[in-house]
Amino acid sequence: MMARGFDHALIRAQFPILEPGVHGRHLHYLDNGATAQMPKAVLDAIVRHETRHRANVKRSVHFLAEAATEAYDDARESMKAYVNAASEEEIVFTSGCTGAINLVAYSFGSLLEAGDEVVISALEHHSNIVPWHMLAKRAGVVVKAIPVTPEGRLDLDALPKVIGPRCRLVAVTHVSNVTGAETDVAAIVAAAKAVGARVLLDGAQRAPHGPIDVKALGVDFYAFSSHKMFGPNGVGVLWGKSELLARMPPFLGGGEMIARVTLEETTFAEPPRRFEAGTPPIAQAVGMAAAARWISGIDQEAAHAHLQSLTGRMLEGLEGMGGGRVRVVGPLGLQNRYPVVSFIVEGGHPHDICQLLDEEGVALRGGHHCAQPLMNAFGVTGTTRASLALYNDADDVDALITGLGRALKKLHL
Ligand code: ALA
Repeated sequence: MMARGFDHALIRAQFPILEPGVHGRHLHYLDNGATAQMPKAVLDAIVRHETRHRANVKRSVHFLAEAATEAYDDARESMKAYVNAASEEEIVFTSGCTGAINLVAYSFGSLLEAGDEVVISALEHHSNIVPWHMLAKRAGVVVKAIPVTPEGRLDLDALPKVIGPRCRLVAVTHVSNVTGAETDVAAIVAAAKAVGARVLLDGAQRAPHGPIDVKALGVDFYAFSSHKMFGPNGVGVLWGKSELLARMPPFLGGGEMIARVTLEETTFAEPPRRFEAGTPPIAQAVGMAAAARWISGIDQEAAHAHLQSLTGRMLEGLEGMGGGRVRVVGPLGLQNRYPVVSFIVEGGHPHDICQLLDEEGVALRGGHHCAQPLMNAFGVTGTTRASLALYNDADDVDALITGLGRALKKLHL
C-alpha cells in the first residue's frame, strides 16, 4: 500500500531487522506501540558516536570529551526542534517517558500541598497513574480521574465535575496506547487553565507520528520515549516550560546537576542539568535525536495518509470477521485517532490469539497493556492490540486478518 508521495517500500528497506531472511520469514511487526524498530540512519548515528566520540559529557576537557559533549548538546537541539520548544533549556533527557513523568510527579509534586488535586484519566498507562498514587501517599495530594466514553475517549462532559478549584495539574495521555484515541487537548487545556492548573501530556504514543508543537498545544509538560519513535531505548525527553522547571527542585542527586557541593550542603545547577543526575544516556540521546530528524525528513501528510488507510483497512477487516466474535475496543472511525487498534475475541484469550498469530509471523501485544483501570472500565481483563508504524503495509494488515481467521478456527470460535 502506498499513499501518494510516500514510498513505503523505500521506508521499509531502511530497517535492517525487517529485511527478508533475517528471521527466515517475513515479519509482520505490529507491536510498534510497545517498541518501534530502528532505521539504519539511527543505528549508524549510534555506531558513529560510540566508535568516534564516546566519552563522558560536561566533565573532562580532552578532545573526545568535547566531541561527546557537542554531540549531546546537538541532540538536545534536535529534540528542541522536534517539539518546538522555546529553548534547549526546556529539554531534559530522562530514562524514558516513565522517567519523565516520575520526575514531574516527584519534583513538581513537591510544590503541592495536602488536599491539592491532580487529575488523570481512566485512559492512562500505569506510568501516568502510579507516580501520582505515590505522590498521593507521600504528600496527601488527591488524585481524581476523568472517565472514558464507551468508545474509549476521554469523557469531556465530565470535566467540570472532575477539574475543580483545588486542581493543580491535569496529567493525561495525548494518544491512548490501547484505543488509539487522540485527546482533545484544547478542551483539556481550557478546563485546566480555567482553574489555574497546569497540563502534562504523556506523548509516548504520539511522538512517533511526527513533530510536536508544544506551544500550539498550550501545555506545560510533555513526556515521551525514544524507543517508540524509532530510536534506542533507555532515553526519553521531558519538555517543560522554563519558568516551571526553574521553580522545581531536583529529582535525583549526583554528578553534574550541582552548582556547588560542600560537606554541609549542595546548591543546584539550572535546568536542564539540574534534572540530569549522573552520566546521562549519551549515545541513546544521540540516537533519539537521529530518530527525530529521520521522522522529520518524511512527508508527514503522506505518512499520515498511509497510516490512516492501513488503520481503515484493519478496522474494516476486524469488523467484518462476522458473528460478533471480534469487537474493536476504541473508535471505529478514523477521526482523531492514531494507528493503535485493540480488539476482543469473544471466548479467546489475548495471549492465545497472540501466540497463534505469532505462528503466522504476526507480532502483536495481548494483555492489559499497562492500563488496568481502562480494562476495568471496559469490563475485560485484556485485549489484543495491533499498532502500526511507517514501515507497515497492506500485507501486514491482511496477514493479521487472515491469520486471525485461522486462529478462530483453531480455537473453534
Ligand atoms: N507502553 C508500551 C505499550 O503500550 C510498552 O505497549
